[in-house]
Amino acid sequence: PMMKELFGLNQLERDLESCLNLKKVIIVPGDSDQSDWVKKEMGRACARFLRKIAEPDQVIAVSGGSTMLAVAEMMMPSSAFKSTMFVPARGGVGEAVELEANYIASLMAKKTKGHYRMMHVPDQVSDQAYQTLLREPHIQEVLESLKRAHIVIHGIGNAMTMAVRRKSSQAVLDKLQREQAVGESFGYYFNRNGEIVYRVQSLGLKLDDLANAKNIIAVAGGSSKAEAIRAISTKVSRDILITDEGAAKAILSLE
Ligand code: F6P
Repeated sequence: PMMKELFGLNQLERDLESCLNLKKVIIVPGDSDQSDWVKKEMGRACARFLRKIAEPDQVIAVSGGSTMLAVAEMMMPSSAFKSTMFVPARGGVGEAVELEANYIASLMAKKTKGHYRMMHVPDQVSDQAYQTLLREPHIQEVLESLKRAHIVIHGIGNAMTMAVRRKSSQAVLDKLQREQAVGESFGYYFNRNGEIVYRVQSLGLKLDDLANAKNIIAVAGGSSKAEAIRAISTKVSRDILITDEGAAKAILSLE
């Protein structure tokens, strides 16, 4: 808290809460676009916050990405975590394994001495494969636990960055450009008004599932993610945002 006052971040947090209409904003100093340790600090802030709000016998759904990985690396055991089930929000996304929600859920369980489930499915599947996988008992179990998630923690990315990272087709890239997609989360791509303009056909958490969650926590920083964070906060992540000073200032200066 002392550090925050020093950096004037408390006021910035209140300003961003009212600008994005969120219940709570936590800001760490710096800009993760500039230095890697800022992402680690966001991870630490999220891990600490989770430890505070976690209750026994809960399901925590987690998405993938390097920011979620930073959260996982900072997690520590607690009595509530001992009976917590960490569940990946999605299958694989064609990214590096350590950025997959599966790996991150398992790492969180390992760090906290909790439990986890896996969802061994590719993220981008054909219609036919999708229908078949949906009938798998193992998959149904994971999807059921996602619907019951008390806490959802997720990353936010820039639309184009994510489409390229997932090696999406030229047709998809063109569509995102045409629709002026700015942000991505859970495989949904949003324009600046927070409208869904494209969705990756994949198994995992649906936006409707979020209605049941008590706490939805977005963790994303770096001034380059300002538009993406703003777009997604309006519709999806209506609760808690953990971000950095770079993103916070950039969001507030968007017109
Ligand atoms: O691919 C999973 C995911 O959580 C995306 O939904 C999100 O856009 C991205 O990762 C964020 O990744 P990073 O934290 O590495 O920027």
